[in-house]
This record gives sequence, structure tokens and C-alpha cells, in this order.
Amino acid sequence: MKVLYAASEAAPFVKTGGLADVAGSLPKALSGEGADIRVILPLYASIAERWRLKMNFCFYTYIEVAWRRQYCGVFSLDHDGVIWYFIDNEYYFKRGSVYGCYDDGERFAFFSKAVTAVLPRLGWQPEVIHCNDWQTALIPLYAGQDASADFDGIKTVFTIHNIEYQGRFGKEALGDVFGLSDALYQSGILRCENGVSLMKGAIYRADHVTTVSPSYAAELKDPYYACGLHEVIADNAYKLTGILNGLDTAHYDPAKDPLIGTHYSPENPAGKTQCRAALSAALGLGGGDAPVIACVSRLVGHKGFDLVAEALDRLVSRSIKLVILGTGEERFERFFREAENRYKGTVSANIMYSERRASLVYAGADMLLMPSKSEPCGLSQMIAMRYGTLPIVHEVGGLKDTVRPYPGADANGFSFLWYSADDMLQAIDRAIEAWRYPEKRRALILRGMREDLSWTRSAKTYIALYHSLIQTS
Ligand code: GLC
Repeated sequence: MKVLYAASEAAPFVKTGGLADVAGSLPKALSGEGADIRVILPLYASIAERWRLKMNFCFYTYIEVAWRRQYCGVFSLDHDGVIWYFIDNEYYFKRGSVYGCYDDGERFAFFSKAVTAVLPRLGWQPEVIHCNDWQTALIPLYAGQDASADFDGIKTVFTIHNIEYQGRFGKEALGDVFGLSDALYQSGILRCENGVSLMKGAIYRADHVTTVSPSYAAELKDPYYACGLHEVIADNAYKLTGILNGLDTAHYDPAKDPLIGTHYSPENPAGKTQCRAALSAALGLGGGDAPVIACVSRLVGHKGFDLVAEALDRLVSRSIKLVILGTGEERFERFFREAENRYKGTVSANIMYSERRASLVYAGADMLLMPSKSEPCGLSQMIAMRYGTLPIVHEVGGLKDTVRPYPGADANGFSFLWYSADDMLQAIDRAIEAWRYPEKRRALILRGMREDLSWTRSAKTYIALYHSLIQTS
């Protein structure tokens, strides 16, 4: 089983969000299940020297997209038993940021075309190309179009990590930037409102489409969640599967995490108390038994921060401490900085992106609040459980698929059904109430810590999917 996994980011090389965690850990798990999997990424300027020193230069070629012809170097690196390829072009990838450039469409069209064009020279032919999100959505379109490469029999899988980011461009980009024919617009494959949606094209053209939890797969049929693509999803429902993400349990492990002061495990959970004290001391929260509720997230509306902001005054009137960690929309950054000033010693606003601070918070907090309006899978709730921190979540997408709410017999956290500040506060109240009883608290914490959050089950599901695609060719 040979699979080429194409992504625009992957840990530990380059990370801006959850996709990097998946692309950094799923291939390892697939390889552990016996697949010959290789990953392909852009060689961004931000990829550290220590990785570059270990890379081997393979070859270079030129890539043609629309009227452009661009240099493309190919490097490879053996990491954690997986071969990684890196596509080098300094004009496109020597930038100050990974995304957010005026020419992102052109940059990722180049990358997607490069993935298909370098294949014949890798000396290794995949049976499946697995693409992720809009940045690699053109691969199934280019693969079907490129007569120079031997694509006979290569199947494509496209994974939707978040339908909110579709890669939407004006119609004029179709020929000029992507080098695609007008027929793809006229037939409706790429057309979305008056422009193009690359994700829509991939949903039609890929042999199979997956998304990152079963509940999100079901939600995508609903216009409320599908950002204009509900009919496209309905049309393609026959080839859509929701497969829950796992966690890199070797990386996120409170028994080994080098970024926390005291290690602990379900067998020996005592260290969490020291981590809790360390967090309170570091953030000036003053200790005490009041539960520490944390949010570790991008500070954007759809992650539920409008609810947190609306409920803040009522929330701090309970006996709790609130820790916010993340960066995002300026209105939320400002709001939480001001809240910290107003509620000194109760609210701590950490407006930053820091892995070290994140580990300190996951290990030291008592509860993690994740009220996302929609959440394809979500990672923070799983990290929290692993670190013995109780998740309080909105019952949606992957949050619904990973958190079983108290007071159920098998509960590992708390949840609320309706997206409202009142319902969120009620769930928080249930958590605070349960927290008062040491036995209940302990049972919930241990159940979360013992949860099987690894990739093993999902990796097997992906492999079965790849097999079924190859057999139908
Ligand atoms: C996106 C989604 C998130 C998911 C991640 C990895 O970032 O928003 O819910 O966990 O992709 O699939």
C-alpha cells in the first residue's frame, strides 16, 4: 500500500493549526500499520536549519501553471520512519508567513501542480494521493488533467479539515492563476457563487472524500455548517466518510512532556497538583481550590469567544479562575486584556502562541472550555483529557464524538447542546458542582486520562479505505 500524503503544513516542521498535528502524526501511524507512506510539503523559509541540514537534494525541474514556468527543487528527509519530500521555490515559500499572502492561490496551485509533476521522477509511484484542505485541492483536478504523468490507477482522497476555508477566488483566477479550463466553471465543478471554490472541485473530483469526525460529516449536509457547499456534500455523500482524528500520544504525554515541571500519569496522578500550583504561581492566580478554567485556542468568533465574552462577568462571579491562551481577532485580544485588568488575580490573558505556555496550561488547569460554534474535530479537548483536565464543550462535530457528558455513567467531561451563553454557563455550573466531590472529580479525570485517543483505530480505517479504492480500479 503506497500513499503520498500532501499537506500545506505538518508538525514538527511547520505548524499554524490542527492540520499540522494531523499531517505530522497520521502518516507515522499509517506507517506503523504497514503502509508505505510518504509526505510532501512546501519548503517554507520558516522550516528550521536543523531539518534542512538533514535533507537530501533529489533533483530539480520546472513547473508550468497557466502561463508561468517556475523552478521546483525536490528535497527528501527520513524522519520517524517516514520519507518526507519538500518542494523548494524561494519566490513562493520564502515569505514571512505560511498563509495570508496576496498570491496564496498561485503559491498553492504551484505546490499542487508540483506534487503531480514530480511523481514520475521520485522513483516511487503511489497508489493513492491523499490531499488535505484547499491548499492541495487542485491535486485531484491536475491529476486528472495532466497527460504527461502516468496517473493511470492512482486514486485520490481529499480530506476536509474545515469547510470554512475553501480556497475561494474570483472567476478570472481559473485560467490565469490555476491554468484550468472554463468548462470546469461552466459545468459547476468549481463554480461557487460568482467565483471558484477549490474545495468544491476536489469534492467532485477526488475518488473519496473524508472529514475529521463522523458528526462533522453528518453536519456538512446542513446549510448551517456547510458554508454554501451543503448541496455539493449531498451530491457526493456516497463517497464521504467521517474518520475521527487521533492524537500523537507520544508527543502529548504528561508522563514525558519536557515542557512541564512535574510528570504524572493515570497510575500516578499526584504530579498534576504540583503542575496546578506551578500554573497558579506563574500567572498570579493565587492558588486555592477555585477551579481553573482554561481556553487554549485561536481567539476567533467561531471558536465560541463571543459566548465567553458575553458570559464573562457572570462567569467570574462564580468561584473560578479563567486562563485564556491564544492570539486571534483584535476585538477578542483587547477584550481579554481588559478583562485581566478588571479581574486581576481571577482572569489571566495570555495573548500569545507558545507551546511551552500551552503545556503549562494543559497540565495545570482543572477544566478546558471549548465552546466552538462548529468544530470539525478539535485537538485541545483531547490534549486536555490526556493531561487530566476536564473538557467543557459545545456538542458539535468532533467535540460531540470525543466528550461523553456528565452525569452519564461513562462521562469524561461536560457539554451543552444549544449555542448560547446561558447553556454554556449551565454546563460550567455542572462542572463546578461535580468538582466539589473528590470521588466524582477523580473518576472523571482518570477516565479522560485513560481514554484511547491514539491514531491506531483511525489509521486502520484509512488503510481499509485506501484498499477499497485500489480494488475498485
Ligand atoms: C481544523 C479544524 C479542527 C481539526 C483540525 C485537524 O483545524 O478546525 O477542528 O481538529 O483541522 O483536522
